[in-house]
Amino acid sequence: MNIGLSYMTKKRTILFLFLLFISICGLTAKEKYTIGFSQCGQRDNWRLKMEAEMERELLFHPDLSIIIKQALDDSETQIKQINELMNMGIDLLIVSPNEINPIQKVVEEVYQKGIPVVLIDRRIDSENFTAYVGGDNYEIGQFAAEYIGGKLNYKGNVMEIQGAQTISAAAERSRGFNDVLAKYENLNNVYKIHSFWSSTIVADSLPSGFAKHPDIKAIFAFNDGLAEDAVEALNANKLSTDLIIVGVDGLPTPGDGIEMVENGTLTATIIYPTGGKESIQLASKILHDEPFEKYNSLFSTVVDESNVRITRHQFQNISELQLDINKSMDMLKILNGRYHVQQILLFVLLVLFTVMIIFLLMYLSANKKLKQSNINLGKQKNEISSQNAELMRLSNELEEATKAKLRFFTNMSHEFRTPLTLIVGPLENMIDSADIPERFKKQVSLMHKNALRLLHLINQLMDFRKIENNKMQLQAAQYDVVSFLNEVIMPFYDLAEKKKISVLFETEERSINAWFDMDKLDKVVFNLLSNAIKFTPVNGSIKVSCSTLKSVVNKVWDEELEIKVADTGNGIPPNEVNHIFDRFYQAESSHGFMGTGLGLSLSKEFVDLHHGKIEVKSEVGKGTTFTIRLPLGDQHLNDAEKIETPVSHSARQPTKRSSEIQIDTIADKALALDFDETPTILLVEDEKDVREYIKDSLHDHYRILQAENGKKALEIIREEEPDLIVSDIMMPEMDGLELTRTLKSDLKTCHIPIILLTAKTSQEQKFEGLEEGADSYIPKPFNSKHLQIRVKKLLELRKKMQERYKGQLLINEDDKDLSRLDRKFLNKISQIVEEHLEKEELTVEELSQMLGLSRVHVYRKIKKLTGMSVSEFVRSVKLKLALNLIKTSGKTMAEIAYEVGFSSPSYFTKCFKDQFGMSPSEFGKRS
Ligand code: FRU
Repeated sequence: MNIGLSYMTKKRTILFLFLLFISICGLTAKEKYTIGFSQCGQRDNWRLKMEAEMERELLFHPDLSIIIKQALDDSETQIKQINELMNMGIDLLIVSPNEINPIQKVVEEVYQKGIPVVLIDRRIDSENFTAYVGGDNYEIGQFAAEYIGGKLNYKGNVMEIQGAQTISAAAERSRGFNDVLAKYENLNNVYKIHSFWSSTIVADSLPSGFAKHPDIKAIFAFNDGLAEDAVEALNANKLSTDLIIVGVDGLPTPGDGIEMVENGTLTATIIYPTGGKESIQLASKILHDEPFEKYNSLFSTVVDESNVRITRHQFQNISELQLDINKSMDMLKILNGRYHVQQILLFVLLVLFTVMIIFLLMYLSANKKLKQSNINLGKQKNEISSQNAELMRLSNELEEATKAKLRFFTNMSHEFRTPLTLIVGPLENMIDSADIPERFKKQVSLMHKNALRLLHLINQLMDFRKIENNKMQLQAAQYDVVSFLNEVIMPFYDLAEKKKISVLFETEERSINAWFDMDKLDKVVFNLLSNAIKFTPVNGSIKVSCSTLKSVVNKVWDEELEIKVADTGNGIPPNEVNHIFDRFYQAESSHGFMGTGLGLSLSKEFVDLHHGKIEVKSEVGKGTTFTIRLPLGDQHLNDAEKIETPVSHSARQPTKRSSEIQIDTIADKALALDFDETPTILLVEDEKDVREYIKDSLHDHYRILQAENGKKALEIIREEEPDLIVSDIMMPEMDGLELTRTLKSDLKTCHIPIILLTAKTSQEQKFEGLEEGADSYIPKPFNSKHLQIRVKKLLELRKKMQERYKGQLLINEDDKDLSRLDRKFLNKISQIVEEHLEKEELTVEELSQMLGLSRVHVYRKIKKLTGMSVSEFVRSVKLKLALNLIKTSGKTMAEIAYEVGFSSPSYFTKCFKDQFGMSPSEFGKRS
């Protein structure tokens, strides 16, 4: 955007500025003219008066200035000076020629060059000048003759004291004087002195004149100075004193003409005006092209005793007036100065004003452009906004569509699980069944295998979605890696054997405690083992190894856990090995695991969640080794990545894994029940098909009640008390978790064992279920036999517990200080002790291994809850069991001692007495 002035606007502004400047200059400055004045004579009073008049007049002509050159009555000097003035570039020349010749020539030159020439006082013998101003010297000569004639009654002799006759003024005065005298025959000019304005010549010549003509009655001297010289000469020579003496000039200054007339020295003087003032006025007219006269004669008059006083007065008045004028002029100068300053100020103000106007114009122009630009920008912005809005709308629609698709995809995946469960379950039943004809066995097995594969893929897809949505959270706890790996590897032995592949598990230590998410690491190791089995040819081998090593690179943790899965399989080509963990990467060759490219990518994501590393090394034809490194300790984990309650290995759900590899053959006798009454089981499941499937699995041995959600289940429980509940988690109205919570918080129902079933495999839900008090948790899809066994075990345990309750409570259920989970923990230990009664000593190691907890953890927990050491606690459990047996079994003390795992009856008697304060036989007698 250009907010400056356009070219045209700039041009207009410059023109405007120029005109404004011209008009300002016009206001403040007129054209100036320089006048050159060539003064012929010395600075006598008459010429000083002339120059003073000029100066005074110039005050009224501020555009005129003057340069004065004084020629000292020397014609050569005057010629030189006139040339100088001319070279100085004067606009007009005022000249009072010293002599007619040779000054005439230079004056004509000046005139011919176009410079106006004003003659003053004296003239040249040519018309080549612009104007003349001065007294009329011929008339002055006439006035003198007439005055003298009148005084002498036109009879008598007179003397003429002339100036230099080469001067026009002198020549004209003489001519006028003699012309008048010639008219009167008795009036005679008898003696002429050619004084050349010199006093000496007068003093020398006058006596001679009187000697020749003693009757001279009057003297006409060409100026007052010569007249005074004549008086002095008369006095000096004691000549007649009553002569008529007439001078010229009539200056009012002291000692000059007017004073001499007044004091009687001179008879009369003829006023000869200097013309100073008039010459400037004339010059101004000429320079300003105003009309003027070429010849300007000035007024002269005779002053004698009759008018001398009034003349003096007038001169005085004039002089005073001139003083006033001078003062006024001084004042004017001051005012002029101020005026000048004000003019400058005005000029500055005008310039500022102009600049302001320019800026205003620029501002208005820029503002206009800015507004226009803003309007354009606004339009563009609106366009962009609407485009953005459209884009946003499309993007939202797209995002929504994508979300909807993904939701659909996830939901569909989820939905696939239940029908698949209903396919896998009956297929497993068919495989187990002896009725199935041999020819179908292979096909059923194939169907089962592929259904399991589908399930596995769906599980992977769901995990993948969870990672995509950042909802996959590490749920690590401390477990023993060695026993964990043992359990994961276990199901592969049979399968490997069938393929004639040897599977070896190597570990340097008997147990290694590490923090990991059991569910996720299980999937990783399972995936690696599945691939290894799949791509290792007959007679090959697979080796799983586990060790701890010093962390080389990381500073947060010191030690690392290393798990290796090495096979002697086909190997992966180098160009594929780099992409093996890429999502959706499908290798062209042998290692296109599971066909989806998800398995190894998920494994890497899971290892990443553990802050670990997974690497692969492979050589075609030799085999492949996957190495997993996980940090040991828990410093690398934040609180959100940890779970408080670890799940023991036995809580893991092995059926799924074993089912995926091979179907366990579970002896029917394992399912044979030993109950007095047929137990009642309540199935809570919203999907009818699943309910039917569960019912089919259980109805041979149990009475089955059914409810489609938690709410309905509660109604049934109020009517009939089931021995066990199998419930789904996700259901309408009331879900399985809420049902569990309700039942377990009610004293009347809290003893009913609950098995939670769900399609959700998340560890979180598993714990949520257990937290609420669920007794077992079986993820879908489940093997029906697994369910049957779990149901049976729970019922048996419950039965045993009930038996125990008949005697002394193992754990005080009313102890409010014990949390449900702590009670569960102690019960679990009691259960373990009970299951291993034959063992004399259950070590902390064994116990911690069975619990999936660290030794320290187990030791501290028991100490905290009971105040006893582990062995003391185990012993006390055994003794309490013995107590019940004494009460109910009728067996001998020795039998009971051995049954509860004491090596000798005597040691049993001692411990029993220590704990209960009496011997077992004494107790037997009392009860
Ligand atoms: C002054 C003067 C006057 C005289 C005039 C003639 O220099 O001598 O006294 O009247 O010049 O030009």
